[in-house]
Amino acid sequence: MARIIWILLLLTFITSSWLIYTRCDEKNISGIPDEHVKQGWKVWQEKNCQGCHQIYGLGGYMGPDLTNVASQKDKGPIYMKVFIQHGTGRMPDFHLNDSDVNDLILYLAWIDKSGKSRVPASAVEWTGSLDIKN
Ligand code: HEC
Repeated sequence: MARIIWILLLLTFITSSWLIYTRCDEKNISGIPDEHVKQGWKVWQEKNCQGCHQIYGLGGYMGPDLTNVASQKDKGPIYMKVFIQHGTGRMPDFHLNDSDVNDLILYLAWIDKSGKSRVPASAVEWTGSLDIKN
């Protein structure tokens, strides 16, 4: 009896591992960051944008989560540019040059492709894994 239970547990483990590794494939990869994305990331760190903003819920809470701002309905690159280039009453104007502003937008668009910050219940599959394109 004990042997049967062991075999069942082993089969469950193998099936579960197989499902996790086959479903966690290249869908989750935003692609290798190019020079613009890397430069945007550098500016992001130098200006400490994360002191006020979150990526996947991590960061400061003065400003909104920016994980998916690039693809959010009614937002996107031009909208982002206005904030990053001029600041607001609460967000500082960092006096960035055009190239750094564009690289920051490309960096945030790259982050956006990696998944959703808030996962809708409809994206959770029966295995517990997520369909990030949902
Ligand atoms: C001192 C805090 C602070 C810092 C630092 C900061 N922001 Fe913000 N940001 C805000 C606040 C607050 C808002 C929301 C608009 C408002 O209330 O004025 C905002 C809004 C935005 C928005 C629009 C988001 C949306 O969903 O409407 C973008 C894009 C943005 N910030 C990018 C950046 C980037 C890039 C940096 C770094 C260069 C940065 N922010 C640094 C406080 C900050």
